[in-house]
Amino acid sequence: MNVLTIPSQPFSDQRPGTSGLRKKVKVFQTPHYLENFVQAVFDTQTDLKGGTLVLGGDGRFYNREAIQIILRMAVANGVQRILVGQGGLLSTPAASCVIRKYQTDGGIILSASHNPGGPEEDFGIKFNTPNGGPAPEAVTEAIFSRTQTIERYLTTDSDPLDLDTKGSYSIGAATIDIIDPVEDYAALMKTLFDFDRIHQLFNSGHFSMRFDAMHAITGPYAKQILENMLGAEPGTVINGKPLEDFGQGHPDPNLVHAHEVVKLVSGPKGVNFAAASDGDGDRNMILGHDFFVTPSDSLAVMAANAHLIKGYADGIRGIARSMPTSQAADRVANQLGLTCYETPTGWKFFGNLLDADKITLCGEESFGTGSNHVREKDGLWAVLFWLNLLAVKQQSVESIVKQHWGDFGRNYYTRYDYEGIDKSAAEGLMDHLRNLLPTLPENNLEQYQVEFADDFAYTDPVDGSRSEHQGIRIGFTDGSRIVYRLSGTGTEGATLRIYLEAFEPDPSKQMMPTADVMQPLVSISTSLAEIEARTGRNRPTVIT
Ligand code: G1P
Ligand code: ZN
Repeated sequence: MNVLTIPSQPFSDQRPGTSGLRKKVKVFQTPHYLENFVQAVFDTQTDLKGGTLVLGGDGRFYNREAIQIILRMAVANGVQRILVGQGGLLSTPAASCVIRKYQTDGGIILSASHNPGGPEEDFGIKFNTPNGGPAPEAVTEAIFSRTQTIERYLTTDSDPLDLDTKGSYSIGAATIDIIDPVEDYAALMKTLFDFDRIHQLFNSGHFSMRFDAMHAITGPYAKQILENMLGAEPGTVINGKPLEDFGQGHPDPNLVHAHEVVKLVSGPKGVNFAAASDGDGDRNMILGHDFFVTPSDSLAVMAANAHLIKGYADGIRGIARSMPTSQAADRVANQLGLTCYETPTGWKFFGNLLDADKITLCGEESFGTGSNHVREKDGLWAVLFWLNLLAVKQQSVESIVKQHWGDFGRNYYTRYDYEGIDKSAAEGLMDHLRNLLPTLPENNLEQYQVEFADDFAYTDPVDGSRSEHQGIRIGFTDGSRIVYRLSGTGTEGATLRIYLEAFEPDPSKQMMPTADVMQPLVSISTSLAEIEARTGRNRPTVIT
């Protein structure tokens, strides 16, 4: 085997977004494009030299080729040991688990999460630090800045490795271990949840569920854990075989894209419980019979009931939610005498809080929940948490959530996404809102009185780092809110997200259709931002 030094030149567009570098597959296939980014990781994360790297992805189109490229580069850059998921597969939370368990020097995860896959679709890459979490901004900025001066990368002339057979292989001085992608993760889940109790629930004869893996990475994980270990009936997991194009679907677990499982949990023949996960297995959607649990409520319910779950029986240290996530978790934290941290969008902001033991649970409105067990959000973990809760409480999902609203009040919640709009129109719209901010406080917007209006900025309480311009927040005196921000994960044009929340403390008014309750906030938020005039859109692309 020979190490080769290949001359290269910078690409200007390699700054990672909310969650790593995401581009069309075609962009990643541009000669040297993937290689430059990977070399920038090796050039800046110097502990990898002589260290251990975890490598895997969500199995989407180009995953296998990218793994072979990165393996050769890792060897050439002096990485001593590389742990690769069999078939090149590792869900994002499982990668985080493996990075932590074997005390490695970090991992490279190949995924564009919930974005569609295929030759014309999306691909992505991100580096996770030794704590198992997505690299914080200081690290992603260092990687980006290295990509801007890069003039060569290192690789080898070694043959492609057989990714499908478990075992230990050598290339040059490096050892490559092809590991079972599910085993370590499943073992961790067993320490957190009462598997016997969940097993009893599945065997009780009056409980059944469906889990939609959406042809993505969680299929093998869900089959092993739900069907093989917990005794759920065969067929509980649907769309369980990971496909390179996710069956041409959009592997995003929400009511729109996961409609197949929504059907199975609806109507007289519907099952008691259903869930879905996304492309790389970190998102989740939780459904009861004819009942949708908003991700914001899911976090709040988990926090309020964590003491009932084995892994959290000693209580939780604190909670964190991303800024646009509803304030339902704040109400629980308040009652438990805990802090609820409000962080910018993106899981990387939870890492320091988890490492410093300031929080145990965290979540985002974008179908992400997680805990200190790994440093990524974790789809299947959330499903197991709910299953454990159902087994302990012997109540339906609906009655658990309604009881929660009765105790804490209900935060009605909805999100409007305007996808693929013109970039400069989107930026103009945000500037317009920013200019309006000083005029808003103490004003009335229809029946709502503005309590605060700002451009959200966050100072990390652990390392003091500051992140500005993280979204426009308008808070009203009754606890309702409007939030605007531009997506940092899209690969085409801009996506404007509007997050709306209305608080209802009165149990007699907590069973209204969400769309009705939100109507006044919808009209205020669209007219304030001049959506139609600025974007030419008179309705959002997706409402969740
Ligand atoms: C979206 C979500 C965000 C999540 C991220 C990665 O980012 O809104 O909560 O952390 O995907 O899954 P956005 O496109 O809004 O920047
Ligand atoms: Zn994801």
